[in-house]
Amino acid sequence: MTTTPSTIVLKFGGSVLRADGDIAAVVHEIYRWVRSGHKIVAVVSAIEGQTDALLDRAAQYGPGASEHATALLLATGELQSAALLGLALGRAGIDASVLPPSAINLCTLGETLDAEPVSLDITRLRNALDRAPVAVVPGFVGIGNGGQWTLLGRGGTDLTALFLAQQLGATCRLIKDVDGLYQWDPAKPGPRPQRYARIGIGDALALGGQIVQNKALRFVREHAQQFEVSTFNAPHATLVTADAQSQLAEPTQPAFIRRVAVLGFGTVGQGVVSHLKHQPDRFAISAIAVRDTDKARRAGAEESLLTTDLAAAIDNADVVIETLGGLEPARSIVAKALTRGTHVITANKALIARHGSKLRALAKRSGATLTYSAAVGGAAPVLEVAGTLKPSANLRRVEGIINGTTNFILDRVLAGGNFDDALTAAQHAGFAEADPSRDLDGWDAADKLALIAHASFGLNLDPDDIDRQPLTAPAIALALEKASPGQRPRYIAWLERDGKKIKAGVGLALVSLDHPLANVRAEHNRVVFTLSDNAEHLATGRGAGRWPTAQAVLADLLDLHRATRPVESLHQHELDSAVV
Ligand code: HSE
Repeated sequence: MTTTPSTIVLKFGGSVLRADGDIAAVVHEIYRWVRSGHKIVAVVSAIEGQTDALLDRAAQYGPGASEHATALLLATGELQSAALLGLALGRAGIDASVLPPSAINLCTLGETLDAEPVSLDITRLRNALDRAPVAVVPGFVGIGNGGQWTLLGRGGTDLTALFLAQQLGATCRLIKDVDGLYQWDPAKPGPRPQRYARIGIGDALALGGQIVQNKALRFVREHAQQFEVSTFNAPHATLVTADAQSQLAEPTQPAFIRRVAVLGFGTVGQGVVSHLKHQPDRFAISAIAVRDTDKARRAGAEESLLTTDLAAAIDNADVVIETLGGLEPARSIVAKALTRGTHVITANKALIARHGSKLRALAKRSGATLTYSAAVGGAAPVLEVAGTLKPSANLRRVEGIINGTTNFILDRVLAGGNFDDALTAAQHAGFAEADPSRDLDGWDAADKLALIAHASFGLNLDPDDIDRQPLTAPAIALALEKASPGQRPRYIAWLERDGKKIKAGVGLALVSLDHPLANVRAEHNRVVFTLSDNAEHLATGRGAGRWPTAQAVLADLLDLHRATRPVESLHQHELDSAVV
């Protein structure tokens, strides 16, 4: 019995999709909600300007052009965005399906270029959300009576999102380039308008349809729905409701830019730096600390940021991202940063498995935060799911594939490949640890189990106490001999609570083909959390490699940015008047 997480429809329009590069920000926003336990339907517009360019191309054929052909041409803009987002989510390690209107039978009635969505094969959409946490749907487009493509009118992606939310009974959030609806355009010169905390449909319609399509607002009024308007990584939103009185929000300060020191410039460090460079309005890289500056320069690090001095690197930082790996010097520098109150984000499972208690205590004392969601599962939100289940105290067993390298090797060997060649391929792909015996001997999984035990039960589990069976070619051959038809060997890590104690192990197990772990492929990870009433919660995603790990690091950083954003504006007003 798998429990159903709540679904959010997120809509990304042309104002936030100005170029292909903006798709990374869309991925970050989707992942923010996936890792807090939601299923996501992401509805996308064409990249800004593309619809106009396609309209111009259609217009070259003169007035009276076929509306069906025009609709088909314009739809290619939304289809491209949906496809690109599907690719970007895949690279980030977030499981997703891309669903054009034909895949969910999104049917419309009315004019070809200004149609109304009327029906949907909801089962197909729900099935897609059962298979993966994210479904990507191109907005603005549908299928008309005759099976031909139709459009929902300018700004119609809002309508697609609201229609899907209404059909699913889901929450809907429209992601814009402003953090909500304002009294008037905040970009206009002159006095700054206030943001609405809540706004009634009547007042929203009076704003003129520039931020939310009026047709979409009328749809919401007819269906007594509500939705939110917000922007990327915002801690707040404007709630638009059919029945409410409008209410203005307390003014908030804009978030400030954090100085981030990145320690290490290997597989993960390079991915993190690349993400940070695309968020200059939130983060500035203050230093990149490495052992070998020449090597880092060759790998593309900016000369002026490079240092070999770890202590100097953390000096001016608000946040330290540790991607060095290994116990020393990682432990000393993380301890130093936390002692002085600098926030730390790390992907280092060995460090936290062995020194987590002491480091958490240092953080508590200084008020800094220490987060490490990238240390387990890559983009599979394993520690996050554990954290949400912990308060219920009902968690009984955790079982999963939490080492990408061994799963990758096992898959290749089961497909007839050679063990050593598969290990070399895993190393080249950046999945394996610097010392791959940590993967093969089960140490990597044991470290991760220690982190899961703490996140799930608040208990300390020493990795040395975990029963480990190494993955070897003869062990796989033996497992295959023992397997009955309908069984498959998987390299599994598990833990079970027994009062105040935890039993845990890592090794090969035979699972039936319908077991939730049977079909986890290559470097993907999946963890099944079983509660005392046998309800199951899953965390899935790509578990190793540059982009999935960097995605989880960045998610911790964005959480921190959001959580520590100043919301009280009084102080800033006082400063402003002092300056005047
Ligand atoms: N070596 C690890 C793995 C990297 O293969 O899963 C991600 O923790």
